[in-house]
Amino acid sequence: MLVTLQKIIGMAEAGGFCIPAFNVYNAETIMGVIEAAEEAKAPVILQVYPRLVREDIGYYIAPVALAAAAKATVPVCFHLDHGPSEHEVQRMLRWGASGVMIDGSTLPFEENVALTRHIVDICASVGVGVEGELGHIGSVNDDTMEEFTDPAAAAEFVEKTKVTCLAVLVGNAHGHYKKPPEIDIDRIKAIRAATNNTPLVLHGGSGIPDETVMCAIKAGIRKLNVGTDVCCAFAKGATEELNREGRSIAIDLFMKPAIEAVKKLALEKIKLTGSGGRAE
Ligand code: 13P
Repeated sequence: MLVTLQKIIGMAEAGGFCIPAFNVYNAETIMGVIEAAEEAKAPVILQVYPRLVREDIGYYIAPVALAAAAKATVPVCFHLDHGPSEHEVQRMLRWGASGVMIDGSTLPFEENVALTRHIVDICASVGVGVEGELGHIGSVNDDTMEEFTDPAAAAEFVEKTKVTCLAVLVGNAHGHYKKPPEIDIDRIKAIRAATNNTPLVLHGGSGIPDETVMCAIKAGIRKLNVGTDVCCAFAKGATEELNREGRSIAIDLFMKPAIEAVKKLALEKIKLTGSGGRAE
């Protein structure tokens, strides 16, 4: 069933576990994630990058995500990832999103607060919770990392914006890390304490060692974003099938191993986040 961001994050908070949030790109990645969620009885988030929203791919896959959520027996949130402006937010709300992220992390603090609060107000009028970002989470290819999220600034940000959950910069980055990242677990704990236990979000989930993810969840991470790993699993499944002797070129058959590969990855992340068996 389709549920809001605040509902699904609330489940994680109440149970002390973490919701895996998978970036999806097409019907097949959605199918792989949903099959895993159903099998493991796990609540999951399906999220889309703003590029897909701008380029209309989102227009086509939103109904697929919503159909998958409606058919699923487990809670599913359909979420905008890294929304840069109201444009993408409004499109996603119109297309049925039940969660929204607004990313003002490259703006000066007060501008980030103002943009985020504005989006929180818009989304509140249709009952949709919002994820904010404080401390810009860049790419593994960036030369340097911005300053990590400051606990006192996070407290002020949460108080002023009323976000449902907050994405933080604690040594994480998007993409495949060149070496295992050092995640500042003490900082996660400090941000949690300073923000009255606001649910925190760890972006860049592909390639963070499992033990580190588990420590981060213990410290207060309630949403783990996984994007690159979804792409790699899908590409590997499709490539292996392409090279397999005797394979069919009928697209539905040809795509089956790619769906299966995404499902396998999703099952691993569900296990890692402790979300299996948590569907109510
Ligand atoms: P990865 O692609 O590194 O898994 O990050 C995904 C993410 O954080 C999406 O916002």
